[in-house]
Amino acid sequence: MRIDIITVLPQLLESPFQHSILKRAIDKGLVEVNLINLRDYSTHKQKSVDDYAFGGGAGMVMGIEPIANCINSLKSERNYDEVIYTSPDGELLSQKMSNQISTLNNIIILCGHYKGIDERVREHFITKEISIGDYVLSGGELAAAVICDSVIRIIPGAISDETSALTDSFQDNLLAPPVYTRPAEYNGWKVPEILLSGHTANIDNWRHDQSLERTKKRRPDLLK
Ligand code: ADE
Repeated sequence: MRIDIITVLPQLLESPFQHSILKRAIDKGLVEVNLINLRDYSTHKQKSVDDYAFGGGAGMVMGIEPIANCINSLKSERNYDEVIYTSPDGELLSQKMSNQISTLNNIIILCGHYKGIDERVREHFITKEISIGDYVLSGGELAAAVICDSVIRIIPGAISDETSALTDSFQDNLLAPPVYTRPAEYNGWKVPEILLSGHTANIDNWRHDQSLERTKKRRPDLLK
């Protein structure tokens, strides 16, 4: 999979891909992530990519020209399955959406900024708009990092224990069950006996019951 991220702050996005699972997935060649500086596609002397909003009002708007130059240049090299725009008014990111994106070959993620982007970009270039939650971030970079993390970790081979991504919370619309490790008793607080029993079928049943209980209590909306 290839992910091209268009941003005005490429440095902000370097670190998430230099550690842990995402780094390993890149090193293994499962995914290629390119950080593209939108300013490189500006034709202005000062490399600006924003301008005042027509009709007035506070805040700057990202202009269509550098974005169009950048996306057209990428598209001249290869086909893209999706051109994603990160924005608080996009569709809410879900595990289902991340699963679907993880099956794609080439995607572009355009990080929003300022007061937004010229609407013509959304109409003519963007194929999918994603929000990571009902709150406003200062820019789309952290949202892009969240999307990439949730997508890359489920690419087969990204996590050493193949089954582990499938038992994540949300994979079957259930929250994950509680987990424990050694010591079996700390400060008088004991690990549930069943987990020490070695009886796999009973442990699986217990975990499923715990998942269901936890989901009912914390996220009943997932069970509807
Ligand atoms: N940009 C600003 N806020 C955002 C959000 N909640 N999700 C995605 N992109 C954003």
